[in-house]
Parts: sequence; C-alpha cells; structure tokens
Amino acid sequence: MELEPEGRFGRPFRFVRSCPSTQDLLDPADPEGAVAAADEQTAGRGRLGRAWVAPAGTAILCSVILRPPEGRRPVELSLVAGVAVADAVEEALDLSAQIKWPNDVLVNRKKVAGMLAEARDDAVVVGIGINVNQERDDLPADTVPPAASLRTTDGVERERAPLLARVLARLEQHYDLWREGGLDAIYIDLGSRDFLRGRRIAVDGLAGTAVQIDREGRLEIDVGGDHRTIESGEVTYER
Ligand code: BTN
Repeated sequence: MELEPEGRFGRPFRFVRSCPSTQDLLDPADPEGAVAAADEQTAGRGRLGRAWVAPAGTAILCSVILRPPEGRRPVELSLVAGVAVADAVEEALDLSAQIKWPNDVLVNRKKVAGMLAEARDDAVVVGIGINVNQERDDLPADTVPPAASLRTTDGVERERAPLLARVLARLEQHYDLWREGGLDAIYIDLGSRDFLRGRRIAVDGLAGTAVQIDREGRLEIDVGGDHRTIESGEVTYER
C-alpha cells in the first residue's frame, strides 16, 4: 500500500504484507505520527485479549505512535481515535457513525471499526482496525455489536489508502486539539456520537442507564438515581 499523508501523521509510513500485529511494528524511538500498516495480521489483537481478524487485503490495519504530553490521560486516546475514524467513515459513507464507549465505531448499530491504545514507555501505540471491503461471510459472526464493513453497509468496494490518509489527517487534527484542551476540546464531536447515552446497560455488575461519556473519557451511569463513573469495562446494552 502506498500512502500519501496529508499532514505530519503517516511519516514515516511502514507497510508490510503480513505480520503478527501492527502494534509491534513501531518502536519507542519512532517519531510521533509514525504509522505501521499491514495487509494481514496473523495475531491481530483487540481489547480484553480478544483476537482481531480480517482476510488479507480487505481492511485497514494500522498503528500510530503518539506521545501525549504530561497532564493528558493516555486512556482517552482510543476515544480521540474513535472520533477521527468516525469522521472519516462518515465522509466515506455519507452516513452518521456513533462511538460505543470505549473503543468501537458503529454505523447502523453495527461495528465497523475498533481502536486499541497500548502504552510503550512514554509513548502510546494506537491501533486502528477498520472493516473496509469484507463481505458478510468474511466478518466475525455472533458478536455484540454485530460486525459490518463499509462494503456491507453501502455495497461499494474502496481503495484503502485514501481512506487511511483521511483517518490520519483527522487523527492529527483531533489529537492536536486534545493535546491543547483535552476531551473538552473535541467534546462536540464525541458527545454527539455517544451510542450508549440513554441506553439501559450493564457493566462490571452494575446495571443502569448510561448518562454520557464524561469529559475525562469515563462512562457515567445512573444506577437508580446514583451517578457512578466507570474507567474501563465491558458494557452490555439493551437495544
Ligand atoms: C477492539 O475493537 O477490540 C480493538 C481492535 C483493534 C484492532 C487493530 S488492527 C491494527 C492494530 N493491530 C492490532 O493487533 N490491533 C489493532
């Protein structure tokens, strides 16, 4: 894959046909914004130790190295990346995208992308997986939320490189805002896409109504009138 970066993210750009995980192709010595991408991962990983699987050549599988300044919470980066991916996916599909806390991008209630932020010394490697050209049978079955690709959503097969260039440009833009002002600075793009808001949910033994993703990237839940915030966890939700 050849990438034409629009800004400073994607320089350098390292592409391999196959690797265990793009998360392991970046080095703490790489400059901020360095990107690694692959056509195929043999040990792609998702949150909570799950596997992330996509047939070779069908998806965007990439990792970006970031160096958040002191005072910013690295855990918020999966939401920053979520906003960037949601923007780029919306532009591509001309449909709205939602963010399911903490790291899923949904279109029509189906997951089209996932983010994974992993700490490396003073850096954070943010992994992004976007289902682009998979057909229905290529996607994992029986997941919640159900999986979709851009192609199963609108029937269009796309070049991945221009979409990746848009994702990186959006990430750079939202990351710069976040560096300066935290999630507050991008909250208009985050809060408006909050998929869980107002839904009945359960997480870590708590059942209640999701109030919002707060400005520190936590999930606020109303549990019988008592407001709690959750730093991380696996959320199940009702329709
Ligand atoms: C999730 O939804 O659980 C997160 C998925 C993150 C997948 C991407 S694909 C590129 C990068 N390399 C990996 O091994 N994982 C991330």
